[in-house]
Amino acid sequence: MHRDIEKIFFTEEDIAKRVRELGKQISADYAGKNPVLIGVLKGAFVFMADLLRALDIHCQVEFVACSSYGAGTETSGTVTLTKGLSLDIKGRDVIIVEDILDSGVTINFLKDYLLSLGPASVKVCTFLDKPARRKMPFEADYVGYTCEDAFVVGYGLDYAERYRNLPYIGVLKQEVYA
Ligand code: IMP
Ligand code: MG
Repeated sequence: MHRDIEKIFFTEEDIAKRVRELGKQISADYAGKNPVLIGVLKGAFVFMADLLRALDIHCQVEFVACSSYGAGTETSGTVTLTKGLSLDIKGRDVIIVEDILDSGVTINFLKDYLLSLGPASVKVCTFLDKPARRKMPFEADYVGYTCEDAFVVGYGLDYAERYRNLPYIGVLKQEVYA
């Protein structure tokens, strides 16, 4: 375990198992379709790479980037799109791929934005959900794990751009923030 980590919430094995299950479920739900998976950078890139390989349907991959956090651990409340789409999603089945739903501010903004572009459908797949922290109500269509109310890192999730490379998800020691 990394020396800055206090506790592991989800091990590599927990993650792999749940990703396989999500892949099966999404493959069944979208059988015969060709959805566009839209990952939210940067956090979701690791989950996206794994989820993609757990799907056995045709699918397309895209990324957008949103920013609301800066270097802190709390949302600033306003979301800006810092990287938009490079394909037309009109009439397409879209699956937004997120690392974590926290306040719900980012996902509400993004889903509304994508819906305004005329897709056939928009669903949301998030690896982690922290429902205790919602500022805006939101329920994802696919959830990897429900997570307790703590700031977590690893598996793509960062604190000040660090720890994305950890293969598990855990909480940092208090002294790391000091
Ligand atoms: P929301 O807008 O508050 O729902 O935040 C969503 C985004 O904030 C996620 O895509 C993450 O990038 C980031 N985020 C929220 N909670 C955490 C956390 O516990 N660790 C790391 N990043 C987080
Ligand atoms: Mg993020």
